[in-house]
Amino acid sequence: MTATLTGRPVISATGLFTPAESITNAELVASFNAFADRHNAAHAEAIAAGEAEALPYSSVEFIEKASGIKARHVMSKAAILDPETMCPRLPERANDELSVMAEIGVAAARQALERAGRKPEDVDAVLCAASNMQRAYPAMAIEIQQALGIDGFGFDMNVACSSATFGIQTAADYVRAGNARSVLVVSPEITSGHLNWRDRDSHFIFGDVATAVLVEDAAIAPAEHWEILGTRLKTVFSNNIRNNFGFLNRAHPESTGSADKLFVQEGRKVFKEVVPMVAQMILDEATRLGLDPAATRRLWLHQANAGMNRLIAHKVLGHEASEDESPTVLDTYGNTSSAGSIIAFHKHNDDLAAGDTGLICSFGAGYSAGTVFVRKVA
Ligand code: COA
Repeated sequence: MTATLTGRPVISATGLFTPAESITNAELVASFNAFADRHNAAHAEAIAAGEAEALPYSSVEFIEKASGIKARHVMSKAAILDPETMCPRLPERANDELSVMAEIGVAAARQALERAGRKPEDVDAVLCAASNMQRAYPAMAIEIQQALGIDGFGFDMNVACSSATFGIQTAADYVRAGNARSVLVVSPEITSGHLNWRDRDSHFIFGDVATAVLVEDAAIAPAEHWEILGTRLKTVFSNNIRNNFGFLNRAHPESTGSADKLFVQEGRKVFKEVVPMVAQMILDEATRLGLDPAATRRLWLHQANAGMNRLIAHKVLGHEASEDESPTVLDTYGNTSSAGSIIAFHKHNDDLAAGDTGLICSFGAGYSAGTVFVRKVA
């Protein structure tokens, strides 16, 4: 590649890996209720004596009404649904085998490279941006880099559900500064590993997936691409979405198996606090960029809750958003953490016309939020 660089970052292409297996709400609830029955039978005496509370049933109707989620893809369906296990069981791999998180990241990345017509040797950097890494080090990004045959550098970054948009801004900044021409932002999200499948309030939330976004200098991008008009990031500390898993837990072996080492949230508070924060952030960023928010052709929002997205989209567009204006993927994918808005973008951008503007937006634990305004060039 010999083109004179512009320092203007664009999205050249995206890629998606979707696990073959999927769990419906009915299958999930049947498994949870079987677990509740077993638990209640095992503690029948204490429950009868008023010393323990019986576990209530989960419900398909509640899940769909409260979240909009109908199904979720997972990497290990049988073990998750087995009421004795209720977590993924992914066989451990030897150090000389590609790790599972890298494997699904590579699958998404290969698709992005193929769609952009980009050879791996022409990519300069790989960011693995996701809410959970399968190990501390070496970085997942470096393993992905090696598997793809990329000569350059890679590192991991974790900003929970906002990891992908934070990754896109980081990649865009490398391009703006001239430090890289082509950067892969890969988000393999095996969220089933940090979800507490025994917790009725949250057992329905997450799904597994991997996405990839190729951010490049406009000078080398394929003819059809998305110009990055502006990126904005925001964080505000909150304990309302928290996961205490970490290597210091081994100092307290008795607590390592407890529920706070998995995803825990105050769902109502998250809903109430994050919606206004994100809507205001989008409106401020549109003003900064001189864009009319109501003219945004499509919103690819973080996929956590259909109600949250309805409220945010309404505040941005000034009217109830149609499915065409704010597409949903959480109905079949569940909440896929940082990958959600990228899946929405990947699946729903082909039909837009040159000159159309859109917004990729994520939000989640931290709290964290990221916006990426884009314009189609074709
Ligand atoms: N099945 C049946 N009933 C359930 C249930 C289940 N699986 N889980 C909870 N309930 C019950 C609760 O016990 C409660 O009963 P009560 O009113 O008798 O006490 C009732 O349903 C309402 O629970 P609540 O937690 O207030 O539900 P909600 O309407 O707020 O929906 C979330 C819960 C999590 C779906 C919703 O708050 C949400 O999506 N928040 C956004 C946060 C998010 O997605 N974060 C992820 C990171 S971005």
